[in-house]
Amino acid sequence: MINFENLTGQKLTEIIDDAIEVKHNPEKYRNAMDCMSLAMIFQKSSTRTRVSFEVAMTQLGGHALYIDWRTTNFTIADVYDETQYLSRNVDCIMTRLKKNADLQVMTKASLVPVINGCDEKYHPCQAIADLMTMKEKKGMLKEVKLVYIGIHNNVCNSLIEGCIKTETKITTVTPIFNEPSRDEKLLETARKTGLYETTLNVKQAVKDADFVYTDTWVDMEFFLDPKYAVEKEKRVKLMMPYQINKELLKESDAYIMHDMPIHRGYEIDQEVIESPKSIIYEQSENRLHSAKAILLELLGKH
Ligand code: CP
Repeated sequence: MINFENLTGQKLTEIIDDAIEVKHNPEKYRNAMDCMSLAMIFQKSSTRTRVSFEVAMTQLGGHALYIDWRTTNFTIADVYDETQYLSRNVDCIMTRLKKNADLQVMTKASLVPVINGCDEKYHPCQAIADLMTMKEKKGMLKEVKLVYIGIHNNVCNSLIEGCIKTETKITTVTPIFNEPSRDEKLLETARKTGLYETTLNVKQAVKDADFVYTDTWVDMEFFLDPKYAVEKEKRVKLMMPYQINKELLKESDAYIMHDMPIHRGYEIDQEVIESPKSIIYEQSENRLHSAKAILLELLGKH
């Protein structure tokens, strides 16, 4: 699962519904992954993706291996060859790679399902948890309106893709486009559905939103990088008028979402994170339940 391109809306909805079901009845799935192993390969840092998939495998009766890319021979060999080997020893691979191109090679080489744990283009596991959280709150996704405010990035792409597949309305307010994330084909498809629109009128966009969502303005691998300091400063200056804060939300009754990690005082104000309408921590908890649903689906155990 690189993104949702090859997933029907019905299948995506099934995974979302399964995630809700698994959340309420975890004991039914205690042995679903008996004797199964998940390899988790990380080229970049992670809290939620790593923890949720590792705990998911444990709670499903299986086993997960955390593999730091830098400690493996992926660094000195061909991604294709190393994946050929790996997929002969495990039942599934979940990976966070810097380049979607490497993920494509890995998917081609693997004999077992490969899950995209976030690359520069997509973050499908996050979008499934997000849609699950929205469905829990509203009881449905059709006609619900999500407003994404921030940088047009990998998370934004997967939200657009997930929303159009589930007939959820999505408006993006993204003054900056992260070029490595660009997927014109996806945007073209999204535009044709009538479910996706983009605007810079942030005040108007949030007025009738059911959910307002934001994400970091700087990709995780660049956040502390001194070489990226000038670009970071430029982005902060340009994006500050789009911060999610009390003033922006004064005419909105929307739930507030963020995929985390949060940068308090930048893309979102402290007060909003702690407000009664914030569902950020529930959303992050749902990474676990949705990880289970993804594994159950891909390993034919659902
Ligand atoms: N949202 C998310 O993917 O969190 P991590 O980067 O901590 O995995």
